[in-house]
Amino acid sequence: MLVNATEMLQKARDGHYAVGQFNINNLEWTKAILQTAQELNSPVILGVSEGAGKYMTGFPTVAAMVKSMIETLGITVPVALHLDHGTYEGAKKCIEAGFSSIMFDGSHYDIEENVAKTTELVALAHANNISIEAEVGSIGGEEDGVVGMGEVADPEECARISSLGIDFLAAGIGNIHGVYPANWKGLDFDALEKIHNATNHIPLVLHGGTGIPEDMIRTAISLGVSKINVNTECQLAFAKATRAYVEAGKDQQGKGFDPRKLLAPGVDAIKATVKEKMELFGSVNKA
Ligand code: 13P
Repeated sequence: MLVNATEMLQKARDGHYAVGQFNINNLEWTKAILQTAQELNSPVILGVSEGAGKYMTGFPTVAAMVKSMIETLGITVPVALHLDHGTYEGAKKCIEAGFSSIMFDGSHYDIEENVAKTTELVALAHANNISIEAEVGSIGGEEDGVVGMGEVADPEECARISSLGIDFLAAGIGNIHGVYPANWKGLDFDALEKIHNATNHIPLVLHGGTGIPEDMIRTAISLGVSKINVNTECQLAFAKATRAYVEAGKDQQGKGFDPRKLLAPGVDAIKATVKEKMELFGSVNKA
């Protein structure tokens, strides 16, 4: 079922677990994530960056593929199709294309402009029964061409943005996209607690889920994190498995690789990664 993500994240917050957002890039990743969620009876969020949306020929194609796959695979767990780090224009396009959830990343605007644009998009999203995530304090690292410096969000700004009617909030707490550097200081739990309390316990989103130690993930969930985004870890697992298959030379004597067989080990690696994360986040059997 394609659903708006609000209810699943409120349930996660109240039940002290987190729903995983896994980014999709093509049919194979989408299928792998949906099948794993169904097998584990877990709610799931499919994240689509603007770059991945373009790669898949546009948001309408993505929405049509996901809706059709949910039907043909018999997926009954709640699935949200969510724009990841959307621009103002991208968010509007996804609302039109039939996504069930959007993120508007206004963290690089000054707070007044972030407030104005978020307010407009909240009204538009809610008029279409679409959930909306906003961001305060940019997440560090690089995510599909969007570069953030890695800030700790100001709890007052978080309170202001969350009071605009958004459904969940991404607040920077020292997290960064991609692999964490060796000298990373870890998540700032003091900041997380202040943000949790200043925002009337709105479901919080932790970006940069790859490589955060398990104990930090558990602490973050205990302090209101209800959605955790994972992308790089799936990419690493997919690349490793695909490389091993190619290096093992399992081609078909002169005919090259059968594309379905070539991608199968990577798909299995994504399934294993998604399963591991759903177990760690506590979303198994929470559909
Ligand atoms: P990672 O790429 O670090 O897993 O982060 C994913 C993310 O936050 C997508 O918004």
